[in-house]
Amino acid sequence: MRDWKNNLQKTRYVMDVLLFVIFLLVSAPQATGVPGHEWLSLFFIVPFVIHLLLHWDWIKQSAKRLFSSISLREKFNTVWNYLLYVIMLLATVSGFLVSVALLPSLSITVDIQDFWSKVHHDFSTLIMPMLGVHLALHWHWIINVSKRMFGKGVTS
Ligand code: HEM
Ligand code: HEM
Repeated sequence: MRDWKNNLQKTRYVMDVLLFVIFLLVSAPQATGVPGHEWLSLFFIVPFVIHLLLHWDWIKQSAKRLFSSISLREKFNTVWNYLLYVIMLLATVSGFLVSVALLPSLSITVDIQDFWSKVHHDFSTLIMPMLGVHLALHWHWIINVSKRMFGKGVTS
């Protein structure tokens, strides 16, 4: 049982690192070029969905727990996760609506409107500080599992 839990934590850790690295690349279209940005963003959906699936139990119970007697910090964390999800969704959907490479390469033409460019710019900019808070809320977990992953003498 303990081994299984350890393995789950390790899987989450590796997936979180992967998610973070791809997120950094997605957030820098100046470095990847816009076509690279669009394809990377499409690929980003995979580790993102895995991130949610690896916390599926938590997600299923979160709405019910929000109205139970959990700490204020845990309530804040839950609301923050919901907000993060909505903002991530808006950034991704608006991204597709301003696509100049990915959709055209699939012969799908979109009539790009300034409104969606602004939505994409504003929400993708907002994700960064929001993600910073998300990571800060899990800081202890990050430090503890990092120590277990890289610590000397840890075998499982
Ligand atoms: C984009 C980069 C992201 C990174 C690097 C990241 C990282 C993390 C970390 C380190 C944890 C705690 C450890 C764990 O159990 O995995 C966590 C938990 C969680 N994350 Fe993320 N996350 C990201 C995006 C998101 C987004 C956009 C959502 C939107 C819903 C989200 C939802 C959750 C949930 C539901 C949990 C578990 C529940 C909790 O303890 O809060 N994450 N994430
Ligand atoms: C998590 C998802 C995404 C994030 C965090 C993100 C982030 C960004 C950022 C930071 C910029 C620069 C904005 C600026 O300086 O105005 C940008 C531009 C752009 N993104 Fe994304 N993006 C995401 C998804 C997508 C997707 C899925 C597509 C299309 C398939 C896309 C297409 C574009 C295009 C065409 C631009 C340049 C034109 C413009 O800003 O209107 N993005 N994105």
